Amino acid sequence: MAKQVTDRQLIEMARQVRERAYAPYSHFPVGAALLGRSGRVYAGCNVENASHPLAMCAERTALTKAVSEGEREFEAIAVITATGATPCGACRQVLREFGGPEGELRVIVADIEGKVRTFTIADLLPAGFTPDQLG
Ligand code: THU
Repeated sequence: MAKQVTDRQLIEMARQVRERAYAPYSHFPVGAALLGRSGRVYAGCNVENASHPLAMCAERTALTKAVSEGEREFEAIAVITATGATPCGACRQVLREFGGPEGELRVIVADIEGKVRTFTIADLLPAGFTPDQLG
């Protein structure tokens, strides 16, 4: 049985990785911590570039790390920003791919003051494009 990770712990891991964000252009650091079914947590921050459109979001950094390590099923992701921002559209789509058949992945959105909102990825991307729709 995998060790249980609480939402509070996941938010704390996201808060810590946010400190590693490379965001010299937006000055908007983001931290994400993605909990796999195995119990492992994959942390990611945003990584910007002088060529601005190449910025990589924290959520996709975490997801890409996880899949690269062999994990494809996830319980929850915590995302923390100064303002409690929700994931961008691109990240919603990428998370939906691995968010379970009904989009049940929990998305925990926190700000640095401690305010927390919880959604599912299906809440954030209703009627989203899913692999089964490829036929
Ligand atoms: N960002 C994320 O890391 N995740 C999101 O879901 C929204 C935006 C980053 C991208 C960029 O580095 C900065 O936040 C400002 O847009």
